[in-house]
Amino acid sequence: MKKIFAIIVCFVMTLTLAACGDTATENIEPADNPTPENTAEPAEDVPENPEETPAEGGKTLVVYYSATNNTEAVAGYIADATGADIFELIPTEPYTSADLDWTDRDSRVSREHDDESLRDVELESAVPDNWGDYDTVFIGYPIWWGIAAWPVNGFISANDFTGKTVIPFCTSSSSGLGQSGELLEEAAGTGNWLEGQRFRSGVSEDDVKDWVAGLEL
Ligand SMILES: Cc1cc2nc3c(=O)[nH]c(=O)nc-3n(C[C@H](O)[C@H](O)[C@H](O)COP(=O)(O)O)c2cc1C
Repeated sequence: MKKIFAIIVCFVMTLTLAACGDTATENIEPADNPTPENTAEPAEDVPENPEETPAEGGKTLVVYYSATNNTEAVAGYIADATGADIFELIPTEPYTSADLDWTDRDSRVSREHDDESLRDVELESAVPDNWGDYDTVFIGYPIWWGIAAWPVNGFISANDFTGKTVIPFCTSSSSGLGQSGELLEEAAGTGNWLEGQRFRSGVSEDDVKDWVAGLEL
């Protein structure tokens, strides 16, 4: 009788240990392969301020204005490197080379420079399709007299940058980015604006791609 009792006790203990073993195995989380299901860590990117909630869609857009194609080339390099869509800002009345002659005090661009009220350049389109899908927006322009060429202003005022990361870039002969990005950020009033980057007019594709890689987007 004692033997039978001992056998039953052993059997019950074996079953209990086996059950514990299974439970322990289920609780082991692969440290090097965390997924939302197997980690209790809070998501890193949850912003405290709802105003900074990233836009949905996770897409990247490169917006640019370019009068003589230098900025356009850089915009293309960035789009290739990031797989972004491109949106060109085209003035309804494009600038001719005579318009762009800054050595002529009477040229269009000189008059606009001298009189800020003339800088309201109408664009063929200022609002990209599916704007809400983009959470990262590069905005490119040439430097004119140390600031962003003003045809970009209409794009800035026409759009809400809430929840978007905005990265200004420019091309110039010699001037730096200066305050151009900050002035656009101020005009926009919304968005998470990064410092941005100036490129020389004929910058190489490799140099632009190195910069993009450094952003770690
Ligand atoms: C009206 C005008 C003003 C400019 N002002 C400056 C300037 O202040 N500093 C500078 O380094 N380059 C200046 N540039 C040169 C342009 O910034 C440079 O050529 C730029 O790469 C042109 O870009 P885009 O080909 O995309 O239009 C100016 C060019 C123009 C037409």
